[in-house]
Amino acid sequence: MKVTVVGAGNVGATCADVLAQKEVCNEVILVDIKEGLSEGKALDIFQKSPINLYDTRTIGSTNDYTLTKDSDVVVITSGLPRKPGMSRDDLIGTNARIVESVTQNIVKYSPDSIIIIVSNPLDVMTYQAHLTSNFDRNRVMGMAGILDTARYRAFIADELNISTKDIQAVLLGGHGDTMVPLPRYTTVAGIPVTELINKNKLNEIIERTKFGGGELVKLMGTSAWYAPGAAAAQMVESIIKNQKRIFPVCVKLEGEYNIDDCYLGVPVILGSNGIDKVIELDLNSEETTLLQQSREHVKEVMSVLENL
Ligand code: LAC
Repeated sequence: MKVTVVGAGNVGATCADVLAQKEVCNEVILVDIKEGLSEGKALDIFQKSPINLYDTRTIGSTNDYTLTKDSDVVVITSGLPRKPGMSRDDLIGTNARIVESVTQNIVKYSPDSIIIIVSNPLDVMTYQAHLTSNFDRNRVMGMAGILDTARYRAFIADELNISTKDIQAVLLGGHGDTMVPLPRYTTVAGIPVTELINKNKLNEIIERTKFGGGELVKLMGTSAWYAPGAAAAQMVESIIKNQKRIFPVCVKLEGEYNIDDCYLGVPVILGSNGIDKVIELDLNSEETTLLQQSREHVKEVMSVLENL
């Protein structure tokens, strides 16, 4: 199995490293436009293999997509990251063009691949990749929900002073400040979180989660990479190994949740065909309103893309 990761910046390199470390596939091709960057990082990851004991081979390529030929899964992380004070949506002009040209190359060399978008603004870059590739919706998706729920789960574990491993959660909507964490579907080792954390504290955690990416941008001057890279790798693993895991993933909705033609995060089953199934939750009226607000926001940014 072969995976290409486009963009050898922090997120792309972390994703390649996690894929290699976990031996998710035989080969990872890391592509970047900056001369030597992907070759250097791929070589560094390869040189770590005798220490950490894995057989996945990592190979770098300066914009030569012939090396990516017949990839099973492609992760696109290319584009500018946020700087302090910027929203993800501010990146649209630059990143749309980058995602478009990368996707053209992917379609040319790996026409049967499954594409995972990580570039921001996430939901609309997934739309861009869909427009350019013309792939069925099960083969074009965006990574955000795993990252956003991971932040939410980490904050809950921290509050309860317990292992992060025991927190299960789901979250809907766009990858932005309008994302919709769902306390009703959040459990701690099977116990509803609402029995363990009071409403005010839980609301604080939800607010912190919504702005979780921005918190890191503020601290570091650029956007996060360890959790985003690992989250993308987890999606790749479920696809390559046909694990059929359930994750919140950005996908084109076609009537689910009464939403048509918008790209939003919802729980899906991920297997070897990409998105096997979109899971529809029975939302209450408050959750439905929040999801519709998120949809309105993503729709606005989608129309910015259409008018570029
Ligand atoms: C974040 C970026 C990757 O949320 O969107 O950290």
